[in-house]
Amino acid sequence: MTTREIFDSMDYGPAPEGDAEARAWIAKRGPAFGHFIDGRFTASGATFATRNPATGEELAQVTQGTGKDVDAAVAAATKAFPKWAKLSCHARAKYLYALARLLQKHSRLFAVLETLDNGKPIRESRDIDIPLAQRHFYHHAGLAQLRASEMPGQEPLGVCGQIIPWNFPLLMLAWKIAPALAAGNTVVLKPAEYTSLTALLFADICREAGLPKGVVNIVTGDGATGEAIVTHEGTAKIAFTGSTAVGRRIREQTAGMGKALTLELGGKSPYIVFDDADIDSAIEGLVDAIWFNQGQVCCAGSRLLVQEGIAEEFYTRLKARMGKLRMGDPLDKSIDIGALVDPVQHQRVTRMVDGNTEGETWHAPIDMPGQGCFYPPTLITGLSSAAPLMQEEIFGPVLVATTFRTPAEAVEIANNTRYGLAASVWSENLNLALDIAPKLAAGVVWVNATNLFDAAAPFGGVRESGFGREGGWEGLGAYLKPTGKRAAIKPVAPVAAPDTPEAPGLDRTAKMYVGGKQARPDSGYSQPVWSKRGNLLGHVGTGSRKDIRNAVEAARGASGWAKATAHTRAQVLYYIAENLSARAAEFAARLRDMTGCSASRAEAEVTASVDRLFSYGAWADKMDGRAASVPIRGIALAMREPVGVIGALAQDEAPLLGAVSLLAPAIAMGNRVVLVPSAAYPLAATDLYQVLDTSDVPGGVVNIVTGAAQELGQTLAQHLDVDALWSFSGAVDAGRLEAASAGNLKRTWINTTAPDWMTPEGEGRAFLDQATEVRTIWVPYGE
Ligand code: NAI
Repeated sequence: MTTREIFDSMDYGPAPEGDAEARAWIAKRGPAFGHFIDGRFTASGATFATRNPATGEELAQVTQGTGKDVDAAVAAATKAFPKWAKLSCHARAKYLYALARLLQKHSRLFAVLETLDNGKPIRESRDIDIPLAQRHFYHHAGLAQLRASEMPGQEPLGVCGQIIPWNFPLLMLAWKIAPALAAGNTVVLKPAEYTSLTALLFADICREAGLPKGVVNIVTGDGATGEAIVTHEGTAKIAFTGSTAVGRRIREQTAGMGKALTLELGGKSPYIVFDDADIDSAIEGLVDAIWFNQGQVCCAGSRLLVQEGIAEEFYTRLKARMGKLRMGDPLDKSIDIGALVDPVQHQRVTRMVDGNTEGETWHAPIDMPGQGCFYPPTLITGLSSAAPLMQEEIFGPVLVATTFRTPAEAVEIANNTRYGLAASVWSENLNLALDIAPKLAAGVVWVNATNLFDAAAPFGGVRESGFGREGGWEGLGAYLKPTGKRAAIKPVAPVAAPDTPEAPGLDRTAKMYVGGKQARPDSGYSQPVWSKRGNLLGHVGTGSRKDIRNAVEAARGASGWAKATAHTRAQVLYYIAENLSARAAEFAARLRDMTGCSASRAEAEVTASVDRLFSYGAWADKMDGRAASVPIRGIALAMREPVGVIGALAQDEAPLLGAVSLLAPAIAMGNRVVLVPSAAYPLAATDLYQVLDTSDVPGGVVNIVTGAAQELGQTLAQHLDVDALWSFSGAVDAGRLEAASAGNLKRTWINTTAPDWMTPEGEGRAFLDQATEVRTIWVPYGE
């Protein structure tokens, strides 16, 4: 091509990035790699090839981690933990800072190696993945420094097992390792089998940084190696990013093991374009939403929802833009789209698209390399909302599109998914965009933007996109637990019937409380409640699945509570406190009768319950979100929002205060609750309905179902309309409840120990964190 021709066509020429250093590193450290355990590289074991997906060429051999390898890594991390956890915050901060500096120093090597191993364009690994990974370590050096002063009363968990995917290999490593180390934990991390190399290079810089041995351990291998980490008795926490199917399996496998768990799973994120959007920007945004990293992005804007009036024009302009995307050698600096990670992923995407029988499929007519895992940018229009491709994550450069008429319809279509990771809203009317943002089922919302990430801004999903947040203080909190020992929860048996029961008097059957009304048990059965002195105190209904389903339905129906102002919720909590206080003597007598405790203890419990209601009345309008300091011109608002419908199983100990301690934080934050009171001492909670009735609590916000905690808890755990399950009950099997929760991947907080409810430990942030989801709303400024 002559210079003149170049000026005429303005076409890009090839601009390949050199890969000599990366290849030299592979040759020096490998080409057959072992694991990184206890500060050194092990000899390679049985290995498999890791390939460049753009060419199919083998880059290196990587060891398939065995159970023994995982044992050795966990042992090294366990040994290193006490000393690492005891280091001063400043000392840990310096290590994180050193890692950040070294990532920066070797940034080009990391970028080239990432591109070789993963197939993503060098432009992305160089300008996005690696800088964000560095930023993560810098930010977490700061969090490490401030951890003790800003998050007092917390300690690290221990050895964290971390399993990451192949789409952002080094970045996901940074998201996992930086907060774990900053909090004082040690880690065993498994990179994905297709992309292990940058994790092994990171191991190298851990040595260069002088990180104490055993603090970071990297074990390579496939799902079997991951499973060995997940099920290992020695890991205190599992942090996973990957497919929803594996996330669900991990939920089931860790059930009852007492491990902390965070899951960052798949998505089918909506990209909503209103007719007043800046269309050019929205189309450029789409390029970043669905063709960034070949669409292999958990939060990819993979479902386009465009307002009907502009749809045709939008599709036409979008196709024109798609036709200009450049696909080719990922090491070429002017390439937009590289290779999918592996032939397996290429086949999966091909199978899904070819299996679709609806709508119109359009592949961009662009030049494609003759070999390698390349898939053309694709637009599929005209799908029904139930079509598999509208619902399933494709995880490739394939955009599905549909239209909507009104904002309400946009929200409805957007939320018609089992996922809830991210969403983009495009409109020049900020009022509209900010009205829509909180209505979307998504942990992250970008307004007139897409795929913005930062270490200071929490990231994570709701629904089947998983639970837990990564980034910022919220992400750090997921690697900490409260200090101090809490007492194990013990089951309390109901008081047995006396040998000579008293003659039945007036019927005193405490009803259940569902949707603001008293309800008889569907089973038609009830059970006597005896006082310690052998008096019949009354009967309580034996709740069944049906009662739980009714209660959940009522709770769902009371969604207006989430929209009530925090001030209103505070007023209601104070009002409950006031009305409980007015009946203090009656409640104290009830507690005394049921539990046989002293009069002063019973009075103290009622007083503490009133106090607790006041605390959460106070918190209702003070659990502020925050504006994260992200490096863009704009804001990232980390908002605290209600979780939704919470099932709560109360402890027998302190039957009134224990129940109030769960109800109050949940409703203060705008949730609706299905409460299962202590089965041994249920009447203190059932008496509450009178207090609730007189305190302006809207029907359905609090529902009370009495009966066996395990059975009712199991129904709550399985229920797809329950968003979270809490338990302090001594009568449940934590493993069964957690395993049952895997269906819709609801958040669980199943406690086997409990605070002393009479002390301040029985309230506060830990409860409020459980009662809220963090939603991060990004709003860039400017023209
Ligand atoms: P995957 O979920 O199997 O792999 C992610 C990580 O989990 C890898 O390190 C893998 O070795 C590990 N793993 C696999 N099975 C495991 C087990 N039983 N226990 C513990 N660890 C295990 O994802 P895969 O098969 O590579 O991709 C399949 C689909 O998953 C993709 O097409 C995409 O839809 C989705 N995906 C979503 C990701 C996200 O970021 N949300 C990332 C990767 C995949």
